[in-house]
Amino acid sequence: MSEFDGKVAIITGGANGMGEAAVRELAGLGATVVIADIDTERAEKVEAEVQAHGGKVKAIHTDVREESQVIALVEQVVSEFGSIDILDNNAASLELTANDPDVISLDPQVLQQTLQGNLIAPFLCCKHVIPVMVENGGGSIINMASVAGLTGDVALTAYALSKAGVIQLTRAVAVQYGKQNVRCNAIAPATILTANVDAYMPEDYRNAYIHNSSTSYLGLPEDVSGLVAFLASDRARYMTGHVIPVDGGITSALAVAHDRRA
Ligand SMILES: NC(=O)c1ccc[n+]([C@@H]2O[C@H](COP(=O)([O-])OP(=O)(O)OC[C@H]3O[C@@H](n4cnc5c(N)ncnc54)[C@H](O)[C@@H]3O)[C@@H](O)[C@H]2O)c1
Repeated sequence: MSEFDGKVAIITGGANGMGEAAVRELAGLGATVVIADIDTERAEKVEAEVQAHGGKVKAIHTDVREESQVIALVEQVVSEFGSIDILDNNAASLELTANDPDVISLDPQVLQQTLQGNLIAPFLCCKHVIPVMVENGGGSIINMASVAGLTGDVALTAYALSKAGVIQLTRAVAVQYGKQNVRCNAIAPATILTANVDAYMPEDYRNAYIHNSSTSYLGLPEDVSGLVAFLASDRARYMTGHVIPVDGGITSALAVAHDRRA
């Protein structure tokens, strides 16, 4: 008997990258996992693979930017599986980062779309999942933030603003619903070599990142999914409202430290 037997999890953006790793992790630990994603082809592939290994998983096409689709998702999950115990707010509109420069150059429309995909979408999921959790006696929400929400950078302005917002959403939910047994924490990864990042990250940026990390390598999706499972579990019952970096130490070092290394 696993600690996740009988638990129901929604993982937004669970068809790829860190969301997919979390789907495999939680399903492997016995949870019933719903993949809420717009990438139906990949979601169905992950669903089939996890089911082939005996996992309980269901893909439900959902665009989490649309409130009506989030409401429909929550209604379907409750009617089919009876509860929602875990929400991994992982999806983000990452394609917009290609047009996300410094403040002066940033198109306000890109900022608005980024906030819609990266901040309003997880807000909508919290808004509609929390009442179900409260009704069922509690739950755990994990919001995927980023080190970009904790630090300044020369570009990715809209992305950073959205992730800083996700961190504040995390604190608001933790404080507002903690007494009703709903916990909420954020994970702040640095660069994680998902298939997408691995395909598009330029070599010079990759090297700069490793140079400025305290590890000699970048992270993998599985370096994050274990933390998702821990935060989702009762073993993390006294942790709420916090931001946990998974970042090879990048946010714990003085900016010049790695240039001073002998
Ligand atoms: N990969 C990194 O280096 C990194 C670092 C820090 C934070 N993050 C954050 O981690 C999370 C996951 O990133 P990833 O790199 O694994 O992403 P990914 O691109 O590998 O996967 C993202 C998934 O989200 C889905 N998605 C996008 N918009 C959606 C929407 N509106 N509704 C439903 N699904 C949608 C996509 O279809 C895809 O399956 C994101 O919140 C991202 O900002 C990523």
